[in-house]
Amino acid sequence: MANFYITTPIYYVNGAPHIGHAYTTIVADVFARHYRQRGDDVFFLTGTDEHGLKIQRAAEDRGIEPQELVDENSAKFRDLFEKLELSHDRFIRTTDADHKETVLEMIRRMKESGDIYLDTYEGWYSASDEAYYAEDEIEDGKAVATGSEVEWVEEASYFFKLSKYQDQLIEWYDSDTVPVRPKARRNEVRAFVDGGLKDLSISRTTFDWGIPFPDDPEHVLYVWVDALTNYLSGVGGFDEAGETGGFWPCDVHLIGKDILRFHAVYWPAFLLSAGVDLPKQVFAHGWWTVEGEKMSKSKGNWIDAFELADEYPLDLLRYFMVREIPLGSDGNFVQERIVERNNSELADNLGNLVNRTTKMVQSFIDGEVPAYTETQNEHDVALRKAADVILATVRDAMNKREPHNALDAIMSFAKDLNQYIQTTQPWKYNKEGDIERVQHILYHALEGIRWVAVLASAFVPDAAQKILGALQLTSDDDLQLASLKWGGLPAGNTVETPDVLFDKIDLEAIAKEEEQTKMVEKKQKKSKGKKGDSEKTGLVEFGDFMNIELRVGRIESAEKVEGADKLLKLSADVGEDNNRTIVAGLAKSWDPSDLEGKQVAMVTNLKPAKLFGIKSEAMVLAAETDEGKLELAFFSENVKPGTRIS
Ligand code: MSP
Repeated sequence: MANFYITTPIYYVNGAPHIGHAYTTIVADVFARHYRQRGDDVFFLTGTDEHGLKIQRAAEDRGIEPQELVDENSAKFRDLFEKLELSHDRFIRTTDADHKETVLEMIRRMKESGDIYLDTYEGWYSASDEAYYAEDEIEDGKAVATGSEVEWVEEASYFFKLSKYQDQLIEWYDSDTVPVRPKARRNEVRAFVDGGLKDLSISRTTFDWGIPFPDDPEHVLYVWVDALTNYLSGVGGFDEAGETGGFWPCDVHLIGKDILRFHAVYWPAFLLSAGVDLPKQVFAHGWWTVEGEKMSKSKGNWIDAFELADEYPLDLLRYFMVREIPLGSDGNFVQERIVERNNSELADNLGNLVNRTTKMVQSFIDGEVPAYTETQNEHDVALRKAADVILATVRDAMNKREPHNALDAIMSFAKDLNQYIQTTQPWKYNKEGDIERVQHILYHALEGIRWVAVLASAFVPDAAQKILGALQLTSDDDLQLASLKWGGLPAGNTVETPDVLFDKIDLEAIAKEEEQTKMVEKKQKKSKGKKGDSEKTGLVEFGDFMNIELRVGRIESAEKVEGADKLLKLSADVGEDNNRTIVAGLAKSWDPSDLEGKQVAMVTNLKPAKLFGIKSEAMVLAAETDEGKLELAFFSENVKPGTRIS
């Protein structure tokens, strides 16, 4: 039995999952399911990337500990993948203990190879990309490749001798298997490496959310060394003999085109240094735009992955994402295209084929699968030949990482089957009483449907399961490609008509519904402000307002919170025996000494929260200017600390 190991990138947990995260993981799931159907021993790994400056800053912005942030957001990805019914074998987190072990072993090996040395890094860094950039990769304070802001970094750092591996990398790119795909991406990365490699800074000292550098805990390991190693730790890391287990080397690292350099330059170089086999393939897919535009929250076209999963049936989502673009190309996510593919390809072609065939079986031959006869009728022979070609085409397309071609072949076979029924006209023979010919035709049609369902099950698993269920084929073996020998559908099975496989989507009806919702919203807006309508209008009762205790607090002292860029620790007099401690996100807007002695508005009856290990016992009120400065509500000395604001 062959092994097949496929990975997705592990996702940053600074925000919620979106369509891009759903895409990579769905495509990987399609491959995992297909290879399981080949009878391979498959391992499908996905998970979350939880360390680094970007995550630490996101936690600071929220005023919470990084661990709390990563627990909360990693769970969102895990929930999403469950909702999408993905079949991963492990959901790895870089905060998992076994992962850390593997990372430390990688570093130990890289050191042992003499590839790590201490020096000073001076240059640009983008926290958003967690990437270092050379001067010529920067324009107007931003990385040209990604548009992300960069900051100047000057600090002691461990370096990895990336330059040492230039020739070996080129040799790898040039090997016959073309391990970096698509070929255009291989050429791109090869040209980059050919242009010369600089050694890579692999540690930082100015923040601490990460794996401490072995023997020098002042340094935290560069997040990409940590993250990339998940691919090894996900399948057991190193065993006692220092060997990587049965699933390594990985068959496919499926990634987005933006993270090619990390996967096709850094990762293989780390592996070469650590004496570990290189992955068999790194495949970079394209990016989705939404209605023709780059997705962004500010443009309002950001597609939350949970909403996506609620809006479309899972099979349709998978079908559209795989069928719409070749793997490697960019795609445009447009509702009309999804609806068109649903209505004409899934509903009219596949849905209709299954529906009409099963109904004819029920009404012409008592709903029972007839026995198979190797007929010599030209249409029957042609259909059997077509089936074999499709099976070979699907396998070949998946080998070449062209799932859209595999799906296209399957759907065109469904079309052939519709055409076969149209041409052979079983209803005519039924009328004439030639039941034998009816049986031959309907057997061929049913068997063809079985082939379609088995082949399509990696792509549209729900529909495939319904179809096979309607033919009483419910065991794991029934899903195997090995079951595809013509005539394999057992005689005597009862044939049912499955529930509607694909509901047609009526775009006009959706538009009308949206119009109506808009009208209701308009009406609600109009009625805003009317008395007694507080629930609808969002107004609150006076009593509710009084439940919030607002007081004047005098800031007695202020200091920076160590390790947090944005936080200040304040001690404030709010008219009680003891001062209250407050952790406030004011460090970017205020010098601590300018706050001392000031009287400001604060909420004094919030439940205390712990930030960076400090218990915060009140909240300072602030308003943000267009430039992002936080202005405070000040009170003069005439007001005593602790006075209630009402
Ligand atoms: N944490 C790193 C990966 C570490 S792997 C060792 C990371 N995470 S990410 O969450 O920012 O991105 C994960 C993947 O989502 C990337 O492969 C990226 O290409 C993909 N996508 C992000 N936006 C996308 C689209 N709009 N369309 C398709 N994929 C996109 O990078």
